[in-house]
Amino acid sequence: MTQPTSSRRTPALGAALLLAAAGAAPVALAGDAAAGAAAWVREHSQRNGGPARSCATCHTPDLTQPGQHVRTGKPIEPLAPSVKPERLTDQAKVEKWLRRNCRWTLGRECTAAEKADFLAYIRTQ
Ligand code: HEC
Repeated sequence: MTQPTSSRRTPALGAALLLAAAGAAPVALAGDAAAGAAAWVREHSQRNGGPARSCATCHTPDLTQPGQHVRTGKPIEPLAPSVKPERLTDQAKVEKWLRRNCRWTLGRECTAAEKADFLAYIRTQ
């Protein structure tokens, strides 16, 4: 892990980031659910001029609802653990999809702090 520690973060979260950098489960990092909620629907314009993308593009803004893959049209089951309890229980799956989905949506991988915020938000749904 070589994620930079953001100076905008609180000392407590800074400590959590250091723990994460040291190899402690990064998914257990304390996140900010409100920041995750805002980031969830934030639209990212695409360099190729295609339609802007957000997490809600496939998962919808309401995590208790099923989504639909915008390219393949395949249905996606709700991400909310309140509806589908197995969500966020498989760390390897979570990391794999966050890597893929951040690249596709933001055009880069998410930082440890961004991932923690997304997960904090999803967990409250
Ligand atoms: C192009 C469509 C698409 C977009 C956009 C997208 N996702 Fe996903 N996401 C998927 C698919 C497909 C899966 C895997 C199928 C499943 O788990 O139902 C998935 C799975 C996940 C999972 C795994 C959940 C679990 O089962 O534990 C997380 C977390 C996730 N996405 C978060 C995000 C976040 C955060 C964003 C925005 C940065 C995002 N997704 C944007 C399609 C998308």
